[in-house]
Amino acid sequence: MSDDTATLKLGSESYEFPVFKGTQGPDVVDIRKLYGQTGNFTFDPGFTSTASCESALTFIDGDEGILLHRGYNIEQLSEQSSFMEVSYLLLNGELPSKAELEDFSYTISRHTMLHEQLATFYKGFRRDAHPMAIMCGVVGALSAFYHDSTDIADPEHRKISSHRLIAKMPTIAAMAYKYSIGQPFLYPDNDLSYTGNFLRMTFGVPAETYEVNPVIERAMDRIFILHADHEQNASTSTVRLAGSSGANPFACIAAGIACLWGPAHGGANEAALNMLREIGTPDRIPHYIERAKDKNDPFRLMGFGHRVYKNYDPRATVMRKTVREIMAELKVTDPVFEVALQLEEMALNDPYFIEKKLFPNVDFYSGIILSAIGFPTEMFTVLFALSRTVGWVAQWNEMISDPGQKIGRPRQLYTGPAPRDYIPLSQR
Ligand code: CMC
Repeated sequence: MSDDTATLKLGSESYEFPVFKGTQGPDVVDIRKLYGQTGNFTFDPGFTSTASCESALTFIDGDEGILLHRGYNIEQLSEQSSFMEVSYLLLNGELPSKAELEDFSYTISRHTMLHEQLATFYKGFRRDAHPMAIMCGVVGALSAFYHDSTDIADPEHRKISSHRLIAKMPTIAAMAYKYSIGQPFLYPDNDLSYTGNFLRMTFGVPAETYEVNPVIERAMDRIFILHADHEQNASTSTVRLAGSSGANPFACIAAGIACLWGPAHGGANEAALNMLREIGTPDRIPHYIERAKDKNDPFRLMGFGHRVYKNYDPRATVMRKTVREIMAELKVTDPVFEVALQLEEMALNDPYFIEKKLFPNVDFYSGIILSAIGFPTEMFTVLFALSRTVGWVAQWNEMISDPGQKIGRPRQLYTGPAPRDYIPLSQR
């Protein structure tokens, strides 16, 4: 914290507010007493200048294109770590020892199965239901099945529900996929890694042995790491807001999934690949760039631009490299990758994108990898939700364990009618 103050002048009165310093990033002006002292609110729709909480999990420097989890940068984590290790780091604050990591991975693997009755839940959905619709429903329903871990005041309950969410998400996601293609659900195999188990439940069939391809397993694990947490984005803020009322963690994560679904957020990976396919060939790129620049056309380059990054999203760099690795391993070529590379180059040299600091984000290349692995586009956001669950859960725990935690309750600038008398229906 700091001794600095900010002075606000309103009419003839001056007011002093404390200024806090974080360990990294901009200082923040503490305006919690603003209303009490001045009778005014601040106005910040979209929270472009508002720090909604204090957090020690993730730091982003959007101008420099830096992303840190608990101080470790995303390039190092995605190259050298594993999703289980990053999950431990986010939840506990430090990298685990070998024994701690084994213990954590073992604990997670013991929670991978779903209550058997949950399987019947899926049958209530249409076969063509979007898997994100299924995710919202089934994850919300977990609170009806796991009553023994919903007392949020009990740290042990919070820990168990966190482990359950991280462990069950791959099972729920794989079942959503299996249901959509009419194949039987596969039970988890706890001899496999977190990611290997997910791949098997998704692409395996009971009639055959499924061999996990280590290159795909590594790429998938890296994708999970890249999506694990991202500070106070829309879905994480939704989880925190839902959790601030004391709602149980399963309900809060279901709220996060609903928010993530939108195309401006997690839904962008699906939209980005659909866009690249629609563009189809490099000669059509200029037309789409012109459309993206046209104020009268709602079209945007999906997978481009970010609220915080005004530089290359460091996650997109790793994704681009991973596309090459996966294509080499699977010996596939996808014309869409060439379209993506050329679109990126053209946009990065276009004054519109340069001026507005619009760069590829994590979603620009992820769809190409996921598609090469065999996922249909509707599953892309589900994979995002699966990986982001650890971030949501860690952020939720951080909030609940803060003794100063309060219900989130923003105010508004009211622009409706002034008080007026009710007019009986006969006189209208
Ligand atoms: N294509 C064309 N123009 C764009 C784009 C784009 N992808 N993104 C932003 N702009 C323009 C926008 O029209 C605006 O122009 P002007 O100032 O002339 O009105 C300016 O850039 C600033 O955009 P904004 O919408 O005010 O910025 P924001 O911070 O509110 O929105 C965003 C950020 C990510 C929603 C936006 O860049 C976008 O819609 N991108 C496409 C969707 C996408 O890829 N989303 C994934 C984000 S990363 C993963 C995640 O968080 O889930």
